[in-house]
Amino acid sequence: MNTDIASATTVAGQTWNAARYAHNAGFVPTLGAPVAELLAAQAGERILDLGCGDGVLTAQLAASGAQVIGVDASPDLVAAAVERGVDARVMDGHALTFHHAFDAVFSNAALHWMRQPEAVLSGVQRALKPGGRFVGEFGGHGNVAAIVTALRASLCAHDAGEPTFAWFFPTADEYAALLAEHRFHVEQIALIPRPTPLPTGIAGWLRTFADPFLADVEAHVRRRVLEDTETLLRPALCDQRGQWHADYVRLRFVARTSTPSDFKQGNPQ
Ligand code: BEZ
Repeated sequence: MNTDIASATTVAGQTWNAARYAHNAGFVPTLGAPVAELLAAQAGERILDLGCGDGVLTAQLAASGAQVIGVDASPDLVAAAVERGVDARVMDGHALTFHHAFDAVFSNAALHWMRQPEAVLSGVQRALKPGGRFVGEFGGHGNVAAIVTALRASLCAHDAGEPTFAWFFPTADEYAALLAEHRFHVEQIALIPRPTPLPTGIAGWLRTFADPFLADVEAHVRRRVLEDTETLLRPALCDQRGQWHADYVRLRFVARTSTPSDFKQGNPQ
C-alpha cells in the first residue's frame, strides 16, 4: 500500500498529505512572510495560528518569543507541525473552542477552505481578548480563476460532471462587511494580485489542490482531464522558459475586537 495515500486525510473534499504538500506547496509559508510581518508578533503574546498546516510559519511566529498555538482540520498536517515542535491541535476552524484566550489570531492561506465564514468569524471573535487583532491573508475574488475555468472546461469536455466550487474567495467589500457584522473594526483590507511561481509546475499544483474538482472522476478520465487542463493553461500561465505561475489573488486584512474604552466612547462595535 502507498503509505502517502494511506496517511492522507480529507477536508471539504480535499485530500491532504504532508509530504506532498511540502513538495508541491512549500512556497505557501514562504510567501506568508509579509502577513507575519503585518502581525508583528511580540514576545509574551498569545497567538492562535488558524489553519496552521504543517506548521512552518507557526514555528517562525513562535521564534519571536510569542506563545503560539496552531490549529488545523487535517490530522496529517497537524502531525507534521507537532513533529517540528509546534504546539498544534486538530480543530475545525468553524468550531473554535477558545474563549478570550489570545492577543492575536493569525491565518495564512487557510480561510478560503472554510466555507462558512460566519461560523469562523464568531469563533475568532470569541477566541480573542478585547482589543485583540485578527491578521490574515487568503484567496480573494478572482483567485485561481484561470485554473478553475480550465478545470471546468476539461471536465465538461470529458463529460465528467459539473463540479461544485470548493473555495470561499470574497471581494474586499464582502469580507469587510462580514468582519463588521461580527463586531470587528477593519483597519485595512485589500485584494493583492500575486502571480505565484510553481516549483513543480501546474501538474504539481493540481495534484496537491484540485481534489475537490476530481474526487468523483474515474482514474483514466481524471488523467485526461489533468492533461487537457495543463494544455489549456499553458499559454496563460507558463512562460517561454517553462516556468509556471498560478494566478493567485490574495485578500489581506487587519481587524480588531473592541476594547472597554470603545464602549465608554459610545462606539461598541
Ligand atoms: C490559495 O492559496 O489561494 C489556494 C490554494 C489552493 C487552492 C485554492 C487556493
